[in-house]
Amino acid sequence: MRFKTLDEAELQGKRALVRVDFNVPMADGQVTDDTRLQAAKPTVDRLRAVGAKVILLAHFDRPKGKVVPSMSLKPIVGPLAKVLGVPVAFADDCIGPKAREAVAALQPGGVLLLENVRFHAGEEANERQFADQLAANGDLYVNDAFSAAHRAHASTEALAKRLPAYAGEQMRLELDALDRALGNPERPVLGIVGGSKVSTKLDLLGHLVTKLDKLAIGGGMANTFLYAQGHDVGASYCEKELAETAREIIRLAGQNNCKLFLPLDIVVAEKMAPGAPARVRDVGSIDDEERILDAGPETVERLCRAMGNSKTLIWNGPLGVFEMPPFDKGTMVAARHAAELARAGKLVAVAGGGDTVAALNAAGVVDDFSFVSTAGGAFLEWMEGKTLPGVAALSQ
Ligand code: 3PG
Repeated sequence: MRFKTLDEAELQGKRALVRVDFNVPMADGQVTDDTRLQAAKPTVDRLRAVGAKVILLAHFDRPKGKVVPSMSLKPIVGPLAKVLGVPVAFADDCIGPKAREAVAALQPGGVLLLENVRFHAGEEANERQFADQLAANGDLYVNDAFSAAHRAHASTEALAKRLPAYAGEQMRLELDALDRALGNPERPVLGIVGGSKVSTKLDLLGHLVTKLDKLAIGGGMANTFLYAQGHDVGASYCEKELAETAREIIRLAGQNNCKLFLPLDIVVAEKMAPGAPARVRDVGSIDDEERILDAGPETVERLCRAMGNSKTLIWNGPLGVFEMPPFDKGTMVAARHAAELARAGKLVAVAGGGDTVAALNAAGVVDDFSFVSTAGGAFLEWMEGKTLPGVAALSQ
């Protein structure tokens, strides 16, 4: 797909409506992780530098078309101003007189955040009339919210058709990185898919085995594959009803020459609790009351070797219960190895998805990866090979 970027935009003095993703983690009204605020800075800086008026559109949480005071974007203003290093004005509504007046008061280079677009039902309904009301406050539209691009909502989709539309800097960065990882990667490409449920990642696995040279399956979902191959999984989490589906994915991988890595050995415990006594076992040799909670050392070693023989890595989902030592070990060792190879310029290492980012953060390697996506659901849908409406709307 081809997009217009800010390189091609006439920006000076223009009112730029910029869709950002400020759906940030909050606790007691405080932003607890400002990664997504940081992600908006390059676009905002670039627009400000040429005297554009920056009008930020964003959603927070899922208020379902009603004003829900606890889901206001107002608490974002302070942290955002700090990240941007400039004052940020706020309007209590994203359309109508309040928005209009705030936009009119904006000076060139000024920044304004409009209230949660999801306070209006027209947003999630992708309603034309609502998009027209949003468009009334801008001369051009910039979508910098890759992480919300899997939603066909008014501020991510319909609005792009009403104004000259451009991909922002973060959007461009995400799309370039994902293209390098899966669109046009340097081969061989290795994927790691972990997490607990096969059921939420069926489309992903089905697509990846047609794209990748090697795919390692980890986390709880590997238990379903082990069970499907006739191994005992004891008391482990396992979607037994998906055994046939798992066998189908194994077949599909074979047909597509995608080498599948399933666990060779496992870390088991009777209790899923921090510090619980853990044992390493071969797959299949497990007691009835034991649960598989991490990949075993041999499995991780083979995975690290596979990274060494690959040029590109794309990673979604942890290998074990990484939040709970000692069951974090497989994920930590693999993450550090990938980071080392990426730092040495031997591997393009790209990762994304909520849990994955948290795991890489815990391993302290986010900065060493070639790219870590800010997206959760959008990253997954993109990896599934789906067209993201917010991206498609920008393409020419
Ligand atoms: C996200 O946090 O992944 C995006 O902002 C999308 O949020 P949503 O799942 O509520 O649409």
